[in-house]
Amino acid sequence: MESFIVSEWLLAELQQSRFPLRMPAHRRVYESIRRAIVSHHFVPGTRLPSTRSLAEALKLSRNTLLAAFEQLHDEGYVVSKTGSGTRVAKTLPEDFTDKKYAKNAGIPDASRSPAGLSARGTAAAGQSNQPSHEVQPFAPGEDDFSAFPTQLWSRLLNRQWRAPQPAHFDYGHAGGHLPLRCAIANYLRMSRAVNLTVEQILITSGTQQTIDLCARLLTDHGDLVWVENPCYWGARRVLEVNGLQLHPVPVDEEGIFPSIADFRRPPRLIYTTPSHQYPKGVVMSYGRRRLLLDYAASMGSWILEDDYDSEFRFEGHPLSSLQGMDQNARVLYLGTFSKVMYPGIKLGYLVVPPDLAESFKRGLYQLQRPGQVAIQAALAEFIEEGHFASHIRRLRQIYGERRRLLQEALAPIISVGARLPLAGSGLHLMVGLPSDCDDLRVAELAAEQGLKVYPLSSYGMGENREKGLIIGYAYAATERISHYGRILADVIQAALSH
Ligand SMILES: Cc1ncc(COP(=O)(O)O)c(C=O)c1O
Repeated sequence: MESFIVSEWLLAELQQSRFPLRMPAHRRVYESIRRAIVSHHFVPGTRLPSTRSLAEALKLSRNTLLAAFEQLHDEGYVVSKTGSGTRVAKTLPEDFTDKKYAKNAGIPDASRSPAGLSARGTAAAGQSNQPSHEVQPFAPGEDDFSAFPTQLWSRLLNRQWRAPQPAHFDYGHAGGHLPLRCAIANYLRMSRAVNLTVEQILITSGTQQTIDLCARLLTDHGDLVWVENPCYWGARRVLEVNGLQLHPVPVDEEGIFPSIADFRRPPRLIYTTPSHQYPKGVVMSYGRRRLLLDYAASMGSWILEDDYDSEFRFEGHPLSSLQGMDQNARVLYLGTFSKVMYPGIKLGYLVVPPDLAESFKRGLYQLQRPGQVAIQAALAEFIEEGHFASHIRRLRQIYGERRRLLQEALAPIISVGARLPLAGSGLHLMVGLPSDCDDLRVAELAAEQGLKVYPLSSYGMGENREKGLIIGYAYAATERISHYGRILADVIQAALSH
C-alpha cells in the first residue's frame, strides 16, 4: 500500500469514526491505525508514512503522531528500523488470541469447527489437553488417593443424609453453606494470612468455574488480561473463551516480571500463581508482590491470585498470600479442594474484596447456581473436627518424601546441563532444559518408557519458549519413585548427550 493511500485512508477513518468527545488526538490516531492493522487493511510489512508527512496530511501536530506511533510500537503493532521507517509488525499482539495462536496452542480453527459449535464453543471443546483416565507415573496434576480417609469421609456424608435438612435438597445459600464458609475463613486466616470476613467468601465448583465467574463479572469482551508466560492452560483457556485479549508476561526466578512496555498498557485482570508459579514452580518474591499490588492499585486492575497448592510447602516458612498484603482491595483470592481432597469433589472458594461481595453472590447464583449442600456440610465438619489439618500434614509428609526421592534420582542430569529446582513445594517439579533442546521430543521419549511428563514449551506463548519438563510426583507410589526417576534421568541424559 502506497504511503499516500495510507494517509488518505487514515484521514477518512478519523473523520468517520465516532470517538468519544474527550478522547485525545494521539489516542484517536493510535486507535485508527490499530483498527486498520487488526482488520488487515494494513497488512504485515506495510510501510507507514513518516510522522512528519502524516502530521501534515492529517493537520495534526507532529508530537501527536509521535505519541501514537510510540504506543503502537510499545504494544507490538509496528516495528521501526533506521533506514526502512515504520512497518506493520509480522506478529501482532492479537496473534496470541487469533488463529495463529490457536494453532500453536492446539485450538482448532473455528472456521472448520465441528458442526453446530460456535467459535467460542470450538475453542472450549477442542482443547489439546483432553481429559485422560490413563494415569501414568509423573503425570502433573494427578494425585494418589490411597492416603484419603475414605471411611471417615463416607461417615460424614452419611451423617448428612441420615437427618437431611430441607436446605440439603435446595440450591442453598447464595454464597455457599455458611458453616463451610466459616471453616474456610478460619483456615485461611491462620494458614495463609488472608484478610477476610465470612461475607467475602463464596463457595464455587472449583477454580475453573471461579476464573470463569471472575472473567464474566469483571471484564468485557476484548479486555486485556495479563497471564504468566508460561501459564496454567486451564486458566488460559477460560480467559480466551471469554473473548479476552491475553497478554503474556514473562516469569523469572522471582515470579511474574512485567517490563516497562507491559506497564504502559494496563490490564483489566492479572492472573497469577504467586505461591508456586504454575508450571515453573518459582515463589514470587516480596518485592515483586509489592510491585504488582502497587501497580494494580494505581491502574485499577484486578489481581486473580490462584493459590492452588500452597498447602504443600516442604521447606522454610510459607509466604503469606498476596491478598493478605493488599491494602487497596484489588486481589481476588482463589482456592480449591481438588488437591487436598480430590478433584471430583468439585469444590473451591473465592475471597472477594468487601465491595464486590454482594454482586458476586448474585452473579454466582444467576450464572452457575450453588448447590451440593450436603457435601459442603460434610466438608465443614471435616475441617472443624480437625481431619482436614491432619490430612494435610499426612499428605505433606508423603509428597515431601516423594519429592526428595525424585530429586535424588534425577541428580545425575545436572552433569548434562539440566537444572533442578532448589525450593520444595507443590505436587510437581520442573526440570530446566537448555534452550536448544526439543523438550517435546524428550517428553515423547519418556512416554515410550511409560512415563508421562509435560514439556514446558507447551505451556508457553509466543516465540522463544522456555524448555523443560513438568514432572508430577503425587501419583507415583513412594516405593517406585526412585526407580521411575532413574529411568527418566537416563532418558534426559541420553537426549542431552546427543
Ligand atoms: C494452577 C492451577 N490452578 C487450579 C487448579 C485446580 O483447579 P480446579 O479447582 O478447577 O480443579 C489446578 C489443577 O491442576 C492448577 O494447576
